[in-house]
Amino acid sequence: MKTVLVTGGLGFIGSNFIRLLLNNFSDYRVINLDAATYAGNPENLKDLEKDSRYLFSHGDIGNRDLVDKLLQEKKPDFIVNFAAESHVDRSITGPAAFIETNIVGTFTMLEAFRSYCGDENSSKCRFLQVSTDEVYGSLGAEGYFSETTPYSPNSPYAASKASADHLVRAYHHTYKLDTLITNCSNNYGPLQFPEKLIPLMISNALEGLDLPVYGDGKNVRDWLYVEDHCRALELVMIQAKSGETYNIGGHNEMENIELVKLLCNSLDRRLGPLPDGRLRQELIKFVGDRKGHDQRYAIDADKIKKDLGWVPQTDLKTGMEMTIDWYLDNQEWLKQVRDGSYRQYYQEMYG
Ligand code: NAD
Ligand code: TYD
Repeated sequence: MKTVLVTGGLGFIGSNFIRLLLNNFSDYRVINLDAATYAGNPENLKDLEKDSRYLFSHGDIGNRDLVDKLLQEKKPDFIVNFAAESHVDRSITGPAAFIETNIVGTFTMLEAFRSYCGDENSSKCRFLQVSTDEVYGSLGAEGYFSETTPYSPNSPYAASKASADHLVRAYHHTYKLDTLITNCSNNYGPLQFPEKLIPLMISNALEGLDLPVYGDGKNVRDWLYVEDHCRALELVMIQAKSGETYNIGGHNEMENIELVKLLCNSLDRRLGPLPDGRLRQELIKFVGDRKGHDQRYAIDADKIKKDLGWVPQTDLKTGMEMTIDWYLDNQEWLKQVRDGSYRQYYQEMYG
């Protein structure tokens, strides 16, 4: 039996990763360490609560005693660090939590990992840091981020993730620990918190609320379906050479405004126009731009294709339809997140 300590597994990508891993490998078990912040929803993994291969541990990655205890008791073979503050807009209005969790929290995990692994060149456990392409800064109309693109983070979020990546890299170089880093593009799919572009737009469009598009809507993101990302993480975790970094992208670039129109058209096709007769595109409202808004992200994912045979399997239109299906089928989940009642479950469980 292999044991994986996942941090941040109640969030969007972590919960998808845990479910995929347990489905794909009967000989793996998962310990999920999560502080259940606003972004961590116990509902996301409620179906696994009775699975003997899944254990939830409520706590902060910055709590060294707790992390030490988990490592000593559970003896993981892998640590996959998803736990983070993840929303750029929140990092602009309140960066402190990003420094605390993304930098200090990752540092604490690394120190506990170092102490757990002991001697140099230990192959007892590997540490996979899940990071972002935002560490590379912004692209103009041309070009792609590769693993050798210099770091040039622009938002407090991106700077905090870049800082954590540097620490992970340094722990490999200095202490010869078995670490890995992945930098992925914008994920979308089931269970994403409706503050990020795609689920926010679906949710608002369902309710007939404004669809706020920042600036001129011409910023470009490279959309990666979450299950494709999680398959890549499994491969990197199990097969990659120690110390490697991999970029993971969807080959799915689109301007924000085009994406929002696509979503509106799909919802109109499925549900008909809004009760007042308007088409959902009429809800689009151009609003003031995000401070320091990065223009374009796009990933060159050749290295992971060559080394590990990974390619994304989901094109944006298909992934979008699957995502809309999921949100339409899970409107109770969406309602509980929107009205805040999903926190009640958390309070009942953990006080
Ligand atoms: P998310 O915001 O949905 O979930 C974050 C999870 O971390 C939550 O469950 C939260 O409770 C937990 N958490 C936060 N602070 C914690 C702490 N101090 N201790 C323990 N748990 C804590 O995030 P996500 O979108 O699933 O992203 C996961 C990871 O992937 C993050 O590291 C993020 O930077 C990275 N990433 C995300 C995207 C994306 O498009 N969502 C893209 C690139 C990289
Ligand atoms: P977001 O989902 O926040 O991801 P990131 O900032 O990490 O790329 O935003 C994706 C794009 O959508 C980004 O260019 C900002 C834009 N955006 C809007 O136009 N309106 C919104 O309400 C949000 C949340 C994002």
